[in-house]
Amino acid sequence: MDLTLKIWKQAGPNEKGNFVNFPISDISPDCSFLEMLDILNEQLVAKGDEPVAFDHDCREGICGMCSLYINGHPHGPDSAITTCQLHMRKFKDGDTIAIEPWRARPFPVLKDLIVDRSSFDEIIQAGGYVSINTLGSLPDANSIPIPKIYADLAMDAASCIGCGACVAACKNASAMLFVSAKISQFALLPQGKSEAKMRVQNMVAKMDELGFGNCTNTYACEAECPKEIKVTNIARMNREFFSAKVCAEKMD
Ligand code: SF4
Ligand code: FES
Repeated sequence: MDLTLKIWKQAGPNEKGNFVNFPISDISPDCSFLEMLDILNEQLVAKGDEPVAFDHDCREGICGMCSLYINGHPHGPDSAITTCQLHMRKFKDGDTIAIEPWRARPFPVLKDLIVDRSSFDEIIQAGGYVSINTLGSLPDANSIPIPKIYADLAMDAASCIGCGACVAACKNASAMLFVSAKISQFALLPQGKSEAKMRVQNMVAKMDELGFGNCTNTYACEAECPKEIKVTNIARMNREFFSAKVCAEKMD
């Protein structure tokens, strides 16, 4: 396949960026999208030009690092996969492919296609954990019986990889799908109950403080999420939040 890659180039966080066209030839349809970018960078380096900066780590849909906006879609035109799982057979010979970084104020561009997603880390640090006493031996896995329906829902929520596609897809740059998945994975399990009220209030406050927008129910997040996280998690987060607020007011 012969292609034209229209790639966002930006030297640094405070520099002005622009699209640059890179022609590329003889790309196998079986090549992954990131392998195709590797080939481009090898060719650029061989010519003495600067390679295109892009993020990746696991290349198997686990780490959430490969955050590219491809032809107007986070993680490209396929559904329920990450950019690293996308293959060139999804495109046609002669195509022009537009490749951009995530666009959201809380995800500033560091260079070219790499954005800083440490705002997600800050939200997790605000409450996305369970405090446990690690002294002593592990409890038996079956010592806390959990109904299968809750175990399955918690596992589904826990499959969020923190990629940020939900924020990139949302016109409000809302992080509610991500935050609600992280809250749900604990809210559904007995181990998460003791800190539940603190968790939801602190994580939502941090999300607002960092400049993420609100949810206006367009469901673009669910449509573009590579792990098919459901917006029902947002409804659960809202219930958790109101219940925590009501309890806090009663105690005042
Ligand atoms: S909810 Fe989906 S799109 Fe958002 S961070 Fe998690 S995996 Fe990525
Ligand atoms: S590189 Fe890890 S999910 Fe794509």
